[in-house]
This record gives sequence, structure tokens and C-alpha cells, in this order.
Amino acid sequence: MKNKFITSIVALTALSSGLFALTGPHADITSSTSTLTDNGETCVYCHTPHVANKDYQPAPLWNKPTSDTVFTMYGASSAGVAGVTIAGTTTDTAPTGASMACLSCHDGVSAMNSVINAPGAGNSDINGVLIGTNPATPATMPALAYKAVGSGGDMTDDHPISIQYIEGRASLRPINTPVIDIVGASFVSDMLRDGKVQCSSCHDVHGTPYNTYLRSHNTGSALCFACHDK
Ligand code: HEC
Ligand code: HEC
Ligand code: HEC
Ligand code: HEC
Repeated sequence: MKNKFITSIVALTALSSGLFALTGPHADITSSTSTLTDNGETCVYCHTPHVANKDYQPAPLWNKPTSDTVFTMYGASSAGVAGVTIAGTTTDTAPTGASMACLSCHDGVSAMNSVINAPGAGNSDINGVLIGTNPATPATMPALAYKAVGSGGDMTDDHPISIQYIEGRASLRPINTPVIDIVGASFVSDMLRDGKVQCSSCHDVHGTPYNTYLRSHNTGSALCFACHDK
């Protein structure tokens, strides 16, 4: 018993010091809703070693079917705040890059438990198979978490994503500006994906020392200041 305890401590320490210390709700997707049960494979809700979805290449070996949610992007004509227009740069017409992968759960519409390659041999389908319960039913994101993001495809009230980072616009710093205490980044450029701001510019989906997977504490709006020289 004691040995088993020590082994678990060692395993936990190894996990927490490792690159992929998966922490928080993503480490146990099933904890978010009672309609799911744990199948014991934490990565499977997002990644698969085989038959991955090539539509999501910026999120490697992605295990979710392509979402058919229609998104309205920030700065689109229907933007939430009357009279406020974006500084100048237009977003992609739909979420791209890793943001598209986040929104395959955080749109509040897509089934979080729909994967391409379910645990176990065989049982893969590019259109998605439901895992986790018996019988499996689609489980969507609990309202509280997704409301802050792409509720039903509405991105008009969220910080622009899938948008080119153009120095000087909205007081943006040069991309070679060093950043301090940002997880996984030494320069502003390291926070960008293909020169764009995506969800993973501000969040590290696997775990960080900060709340809500932020790449930095946000005391004094440190995260915002990393890019904006206001
Ligand atoms: C909630 C979804 C989710 C879970 C769970 C998850 N990942 Fe990821 N992973 C992503 C996304 C999204 C990206 C792309 C991130 C980016 O653009 O920074 C990624 C990127 C990666 C990468 C390549 C980028 C890098 O950081 O080097 C590896 C390797 C990886 N994940 C491994 C894992 C492993 C191993 C697990 C299980 C222990 C896991 N992931 C669990 C969503 C997830
Ligand atoms: C990774 C870099 C980056 C970070 C971090 C960042 N932003 Fe931005 N922000 C951008 C880019 C790129 C734009 C688009 C500017 C343009 O219009 O070209 C933008 C635009 C904005 C705008 C203007 C939107 C408009 O309608 O013109 C505001 C306000 C803003 N950001 C606030 C914030 C706040 C608050 C934070 C911290 C929570 C933050 N930003 C963090 C890159 C970043
Ligand atoms: C497989 C589905 C899935 C994917 C893909 C996914 N998430 Fe999540 N995420 C969840 C669930 C489930 C929760 C917990 C919701 C709850 O408990 O209300 C969550 C919670 C979060 C939280 C809140 C964490 C906290 O501590 O409160 C953040 C931030 C987040 N996700 C960001 C992201 C980002 C960024 C991406 C893409 C890089 C992403 N997620 C991809 C399922 C997912
Ligand atoms: C410019 C930086 C930035 C970008 C880009 C960004 N986020 Fe966030 N996100 C934040 C900050 C800062 C918080 C914490 C807000 C707070 O504490 O109220 C947050 C909070 C969240 C939460 C938790 C919401 C809550 O109320 O608990 C989720 C979920 C989330 N983000 C997902 C995403 C997803 C998905 C994307 C891409 C579609 C994304 N974020 C893009 C900065 C960002």
C-alpha cells in the first residue's frame, strides 16, 4: 500500500514537471458533465495516434470531426458593440488554426465526446463516434465555460482571434519584443501562430501555473501588455 502511494507521488511529480502536465478540467473532460464517464484516456478527447483529422493540422493529430458550426467573427458587420469598429485588420472569415480546435468543444454546440478514433482497436469514423457513456449521448460544453467564448458560433464579443498581428495597430509592439514570464514564449512572436493571434496565444491548453490556462498571470494586465503598449 505504502509502495503504491510512493509510486503515485513519483508519477504525479513526473507529470507535473513534464512538458505535458495536463492539469485542470482538460485533464478530466468527463468531470465537466455527468453525462460522461471516464474512459481513462485523457488525451483521447483531443488527440489520436492514427487516422487524425487533417483539417485541424495546427492542432496536431486532432481526434475530433470537423465542426459544421457557422461562426460570426469579431468585427463582422453584426459586431456586438454599436459604433465600435476594429482598428483595421480583419479576422479570417471563420476560426482557423488551433482556435478552430478549441471551438470544436468551446462553441457550446459540438459534442465534446465525439471523436474520430475511440479508445480500443478499430472503432474509428471520420464523421465521429461518441465515447464515454453507455449508451453514449452527445455532451456539449456547460454554459458557464463556453459563454465566455464562442457561444453558438458568436465570436463578435470576444478578443479577436484568427487575426494577423500587425505591429503598430492597436498599439501592438514589434514582434521581436522580449516578453517576461509568459509560458512557452520569449518574444511576442512566440505567442503567435503563423503570425496570427489564436486562442493559444493567450492560453496553453495543457496546463500552466495560472488560472484558466493563461500563459501569464494577468496582474496589472500583464498578459495584455505583452502585446499592447498602452
Ligand atoms: C482539451 C484538448 C487537449 C487535450 C486533452 C490534450 N491536448 Fe495536446 N494539444 C491540444 C491543442 C489545441 C494543441 C495545439 C496547441 C497550440 O497551438 O499551441 C495541442 C498540441 C499538442 C502537442 C504539440 C505542440 C506542443 O506543445 O509541442 C503535443 C505533443 C500534444 N498536444 C500532446 C498531448 C498529450 C500527450 C496529451 C495527453 C496527456 C494532450 N496533448 C492532451 C489540445 C489538447
Ligand atoms: C498575442 C498578442 C495579444 C495579446 C496577448 C492581447 N492582444 Fe489585444 N489585440 C491583438 C491583435 C493582433 C489585435 C488586432 C489589432 C488590429 O485591429 O489589427 C488586438 C486587438 C485588441 C483590441 C482592439 C479591438 C478593436 O476593436 O479594435 C483591444 C481592445 C484589445 N486587443 C485588448 C486586449 C486585452 C484587454 C488583452 C488582455 C486580456 C489583449 N488585448 C491581449 C493582440 C493581442
Ligand atoms: C475536448 C473538448 C475541449 C477542447 C478541444 C478544448 N477544451 Fe477547454 N475545456 C473543456 C472542458 C470540458 C472544460 C471545463 C468546463 C467546465 O467545467 O465548465 C474546459 C475549460 C477550459 C478553460 C477554463 C479552465 C478553468 O480552469 O476554468 C479554458 C481557459 C479552456 N478550456 C481553454 C481552451 C482552449 C484555449 C482550447 C484550445 C487550445 C480548449 N480549451 C480546447 C473542453 C475542451
Ligand atoms: C488576447 C488573449 C486571449 C485570447 C486570444 C483568448 N483568451 Fe480566453 N481568456 C483570456 C483571459 C485573460 C481570460 C481570463 C478572464 C477572466 O479571468 O475573467 C480568459 C478566459 C477564458 C475562459 C474561461 C472563461 C470563464 O469565464 O471562466 C475560456 C473557456 C477561454 N478563455 C477560452 C478561450 C478560447 C476557446 C479562445 C479562442 C477562441 C480564447 N479563450 C482566446 C484571454 C484570451
